[in-house]
Amino acid sequence: MSEHIATPRTTAVILAGGTGQRVGLSIPKQLLKIAGKSVIEHTLTTFEHADSIDDIIVLMAQGYVPDIEKIVAKAGLKKVVKVIEGGATRNDTTERAIAAVGEGLAEGEDRNVLFHDAVRPLLSQRVIDDCVRALDRYQAVDVAIPSADTIIVTRTHGDDGEFITDVPDRSRLRRGQTPQAFKLSTIRRAYEVAAGDPNFQATDDCSVVLKYLPDVPIHVVAGDEFNMKVTQPVDVFIADKLFQLASGAAPAQAGEDAYRDLFTGKTVVVFGGSYGIGKDIADLAERYGATSFPLGRSTTGTHVENPEHVDDALSAAYAQTGRVDYVINTAGVLRIGKLAETDNATVEEALRVNYLAPVQIARASYKYLAETRGQLLLYTSSSYTRGRAEYSLYSSTKAAMVNLTQALSDEWAADGIRVNCLNPERTATPMRVKAFGEEPAGTLLSSEAVARASLDVLVSDLTGHVIDVRQQDPTAPAHAAGGFEQALAAVLDRQGGM
Ligand code: CTP
Repeated sequence: MSEHIATPRTTAVILAGGTGQRVGLSIPKQLLKIAGKSVIEHTLTTFEHADSIDDIIVLMAQGYVPDIEKIVAKAGLKKVVKVIEGGATRNDTTERAIAAVGEGLAEGEDRNVLFHDAVRPLLSQRVIDDCVRALDRYQAVDVAIPSADTIIVTRTHGDDGEFITDVPDRSRLRRGQTPQAFKLSTIRRAYEVAAGDPNFQATDDCSVVLKYLPDVPIHVVAGDEFNMKVTQPVDVFIADKLFQLASGAAPAQAGEDAYRDLFTGKTVVVFGGSYGIGKDIADLAERYGATSFPLGRSTTGTHVENPEHVDDALSAAYAQTGRVDYVINTAGVLRIGKLAETDNATVEEALRVNYLAPVQIARASYKYLAETRGQLLLYTSSSYTRGRAEYSLYSSTKAAMVNLTQALSDEWAADGIRVNCLNPERTATPMRVKAFGEEPAGTLLSSEAVARASLDVLVSDLTGHVIDVRQQDPTAPAHAAGGFEQALAAVLDRQGGM
């Protein structure tokens, strides 16, 4: 048996004492909602899920501590042990954190501490683990990525503006991110020495160690392009897009029994359930013990665009099983053609089926889903990010599904209802064959694969997400959600995809 080596406890310190003047909102930017949750909730959730983190301390901007306490309580974040106010500068905030982590420590007891900017909500588990592991060998650890831009050093000459004084070798330059990880004793000592310097000034914590404890080596862990800091207004937009890419997929369950446990006794209502993806979802859920209600024009005479049909279908399912857990709408029409040449009946049909119907379904489902804290699942197409010639009605109504998903996930969050949108790549469905004819085998996703991905989303805790479903790359590790390469592949595919 290997000898047990006691590792010190590891505390994540979330620095959220700033107000985010550069973003220029009326609330601190860490409270801004992106992808269905506040920026800081994303950050806290990442640390909550990190096996190597024992507890979390939050230092919040003055006057906003209760906001964080509410977020922590609502999200059930168990590792958050303290929420206190930050200081006037980022380094003041760090100093308060050092004092807070030190409280209650036994004489001679040390800690691992990870200081992380609250406004870097896309931090990966890999970076956290690498930092904690590096603390086994080093007392100070930074996280950085190479610089794509050439960095220049300038000096200002009066009214003439800036002039270059140096162009450092780019291959040695890195952009510092967070976390920055330390032994508590080390960072405390660095700040004690810094306290004696009347000119003390810094924008991070590693530079405090570098300057005041020059003998301590600071190890550098590879950061991640996703781990951006929300600083300027444009970053809010970029972070939103990155969340869409990073959400990748919902985790698959461990096996058939796990699906059976999750779906037994549940009620699943599927609009657009006569054939294709909708029918496969209904069948699969039924196989796992749910009661499915697949509804469609050709089978049950349900017209999704008719609010009475929608109401009747939901109340019938409720009357029969006493609950409605999941409402899914896969119904859609795809008519290709130039808008100016499209007749009014076709325009109206597309708007009714692709837009009005999901709106009606959402409205009618609300009261049932609030009772079960269930989920509404909608479908979009990869054309939502960019409208395409001859698809104007389809792609614009599919873009509307994404916006509707975001709006409702926000509006219904307090009721515990989750709302998501699946974005399957080209799928072999009757709708597609009708529009495009037979396409080469192996180029399309099977509708069973989309159905399984849909079930994974239904039982996940995701909300407000657009979840891409792509053909499995046989060389990729199983369920490797997110990741930059995968995200990039999704973007490239989208440009040629539909
Ligand atoms: N921070 C902090 N205490 C401060 C200032 C900043 O804990 N007194 C935190 C911020 O909340 C943020 C991180 O440090 O998570 C990085 O700060 P930055 O975004 O550079 O600063 P802000 O003050 O938030 O923004 P701005 O400079 O635009 O006002």
